This record gives sequence, C-alpha cells and structure tokens, in this order.
Amino acid sequence: MQVRKAVFPVAGLGTRFLPATKAMPKEMLTVVDKPLIQYAVEEALSSGITEIIFVTGRSKQAIEDHFDHFCELEQTLMARSKNALLREINHLVPESGTFIYTRQNEPLGLGHAIWCARKIVGNEPFAVLLADDLIKSEKPVIGQMIEQFNRLNASIVCVEEVDRSATASYGILDADMPKDRLTKVRGLVEKPQPDQAPSNLAIIGRYVLTPEIFDILELKETGAGGEIQITDAMARLLDQQALYGYRYQGTRFDCGSKVGFQMANIAFALERPDMRVRLLPFLQQLCK
Ligand code: UTP
Repeated sequence: MQVRKAVFPVAGLGTRFLPATKAMPKEMLTVVDKPLIQYAVEEALSSGITEIIFVTGRSKQAIEDHFDHFCELEQTLMARSKNALLREINHLVPESGTFIYTRQNEPLGLGHAIWCARKIVGNEPFAVLLADDLIKSEKPVIGQMIEQFNRLNASIVCVEEVDRSATASYGILDADMPKDRLTKVRGLVEKPQPDQAPSNLAIIGRYVLTPEIFDILELKETGAGGEIQITDAMARLLDQQALYGYRYQGTRFDCGSKVGFQMANIAFALERPDMRVRLLPFLQQLCK
C-alpha cells in the first residue's frame, strides 16, 4: 500500500532551547530564513506525501499560522509589487483538508505523540518526520525510505553511525552494519550507555511504519525517562514483523541541540551565494 500520510510530532517542550522556546515552538526556529518545520514538510511533500498530520500541543499556534493565509500581509506585498515574496509565502498554504492538526494533551513521549495520530492515519503505512533532524540531501530522505518500503513492505527506521560515547542520546539498533544502506534489525534499545549499546547505529528522526505499531502504543508502556517511547514499541513490533534500518544518503544536522542548530545555519547560509560572499571571509577572520 502506498505511503500517503506523514505524521509530524511537534508537541515536545523543547527544553534544550529555553528561553527561546518558552512561547515559541522549537519547530519554528529558523535555519537562515525558513523554520525547521517547513524544511520537514517540504521534504515530505516532495516525496509524494499528500496528507500532513501535525501532533501539536500548547503554545504551538504559530505552526498552524505559518501554513495558512495572512491576508493583511498578502495585500501589503501585492500593493508593493513584491511578487516573489508573495509567491514564496503563498506556496506554503495547502489545499484545505490536506494539513490536519490534532493535539497531544500531555507530553508523554514521542511514542505517545505518534499514537495521538492513530485515528487520522487509520490502517495504512505512514511516515514520521521529526523536524529537529534537518537533513541536507540530493534526494529527500523520507522519499529514499519510502522507495525502500515499497520494495520490502516492512517498517524502516533511518539510522546513522554515531560515536560510541553518544549512544545514551539515541535509540540504538541491535543489527549488523548496513550493506547497500540496509540492515535487518534484531532488536532496539532506547538510550543505552556506551558499554551496553548493541551497536553504534543510532535512530534519527525519520520512520516509515506499518499501522500495527498503534496496537502496541495503545498499551502505553513507559520506558526511558518515564516516557512512552517509539523505540520500545518498535522493539515489540519485531515479534510480529520484520524491521529494517536504513543508512540515509545526506548530511544531518541535529537542530534539537544548540550546536547542531548553529552548524545548520552556517552550512545552509554558505550555500546561498549572496550570503556566502560575506559570511565566508567573516568566518575565516574569526578562526584566525
Ligand atoms: P525531543 O526528544 O527532542 O523532545 O522530541 P523535546 O521536548 O522536543 O525537546 P527537549 O529535549 O526538551 O529540548 C523529539 C520530537 O518528538 C516530539 C518533539 O516535538 C520533537 O519533534 N515530541 C516529544 C512530542 O511531540 N511529544 C512528546 O511528548 C515528546
């Protein structure tokens, strides 16, 4: 069955970015001139996804507003003949009914956030994208994964090799190193200490999941940090179905961390010729 729907869990508190995220959603932090959530939504749309499902929470109104008309602004841009800007902001506004919002009433964890979308997703495979993982790639990463899903007809998680010392920050696979980018998963552990990690293959924020995951999430079992973890639910899914890790093609920036976010801004700004000409000499000067 075709993957048509993508879930964007955006209900987290974003505590690592306080005070910036006290009143503003973390997903609205901008890399150069676009919010993180827009990069992720564009990735999904250019991968053939037609239904975008946001799982939001308190103080996430800005995300809904970002993907809607702002009549006063549009009229002003029109009156000033700022046509390129007008096109830029209008292309963000979807056809009514294709962007759907639901709420996670309490931030009980990523697994719980995904479960909140169960009624909207229904009985079909779906993608999950975490906007904090911003990935620069020739081909959109979720599109790369959907291609693999169409071949394998099994759930797929996106992975990256991380330094052993960093395993406690990720869900980690028990699997062999990927061959031709793929590896069959034997098990998964959420945030293991380096000496207990079964590998250094870390799960990053892209998933293609079969709907059976919802029955497992329904049990609402808590794991690391007292949260309902998607990693634990996928570990249980392995009792019923195969699951694959996919080593994506591209470069990831961990925009959930301050340093990763700054790196993303520098890398994306350097790609813009108009900015590069001033930014590069500035950076070189700073590093002297
Ligand atoms: P994080 O683990 O980065 O948590 O969530 P967070 O709350 O956003 O940020 P910090 O760690 O406090 O700084 C990963 C993704 O899962 C979503 C977040 O919005 C983010 O996109 N999430 C997490 C939820 O939607 N609900 C939750 O209960 C937890």
